[in-house]
Amino acid sequence: MNITLLNLHPPPADLARLVDEGLRRSPRQLPAWMLYDAEGSRLFAEICRQPEYTLTQREITLLEDHAPAIAAATGPGLVVEFGIGNARKVDPLLTALGSSVFAALDISLSALEEALSGLAARHPKTAMVGICCDHTRLQQLPPHPALEKQRRIGFFPGSSLGNFTPEDAVHFLRNARQLLAGGPLLLGLDQPREPALMEAAYDDAAGVSASFARNLLQRLNRDLQGDADPAQFRYQASWQPQQQRIEMALISRRDQTVHLAGNAWFFRNGEAWITEHSVKYSPMAAAALVARAGWRIERRWEDLHQQIALHLLLPAD
Ligand SMILES: C[S@@+](CC[C@H](N)C(=O)[O-])C[C@H]1O[C@@H](n2cnc3c(N)ncnc32)[C@H](O)[C@@H]1O
Repeated sequence: MNITLLNLHPPPADLARLVDEGLRRSPRQLPAWMLYDAEGSRLFAEICRQPEYTLTQREITLLEDHAPAIAAATGPGLVVEFGIGNARKVDPLLTALGSSVFAALDISLSALEEALSGLAARHPKTAMVGICCDHTRLQQLPPHPALEKQRRIGFFPGSSLGNFTPEDAVHFLRNARQLLAGGPLLLGLDQPREPALMEAAYDDAAGVSASFARNLLQRLNRDLQGDADPAQFRYQASWQPQQQRIEMALISRRDQTVHLAGNAWFFRNGEAWITEHSVKYSPMAAAALVARAGWRIERRWEDLHQQIALHLLLPAD
């Protein structure tokens, strides 16, 4: 199989520093990528199979229905996917584009390895390049012969842009513009819906979303020699109308002290540790956001339920 893996994962010292920064904030919050160790990636794939989490299947259907039109609009090139996860979405694009090279970025090495071996079996003529990295810090693709002299087409599905604050989203989109060197970006974003539907999507009845959040503590305990007890936090997903976002948090069940990397963190009873948030963008809000980062929306494909839309972005100038 034609697979290359480049490992640019942040070193353990970065993890300790970012945890320190995030736990000093009020409310406490760490970068969302820390949710994705091997177990986190496995749990996220399970979330996508929960009946309440309709986004994944609707976005896949949208891609399957419109891949030929999308390929016609983007023109040929090397697809660069940001945060590939379990690679359930890119197949129709690779088929429609007939790409000879595919570059997949993800922070989770295990997810990346699994994703690329599945894709390589389904697309034997496409060279697969996996880059394990924090894509918020990547300004250029690393040097590799397969990635040179190819026009680039970015792909960022799953409404993952919503995990950033709007300011960080603008920063990410500016970076992506530079990394794609003039090429387009296909961006999947979901829209605000009834709060009860959104809260259920991020707090499924089977408790998988709650396990996904608690796994962050297990991951930090393992990587930073910590003693956080996941049972001493309850999980909550709540719609925050002012910020147009769903906020996922672990709420301390009592006054307690958590030790991580040699530091002690005191949590009051009822205090929130935000594990991630997901900003929802109306069509107008999406257009305003991408414009701030130097992009314009060339075309937009929306699913029948008006939950998720794929936006084809082109550099504004
Ligand atoms: C919400 S999942 C979406 C997965 C897939 N794109 C989809 O649409 O189903 C986010 C994915 O991005 C990866 N990820 C999150 N933050 C990242 C970062 N800063 N850099 C690289 N990958 C990241 C995670 O490991 C995970 O696979």
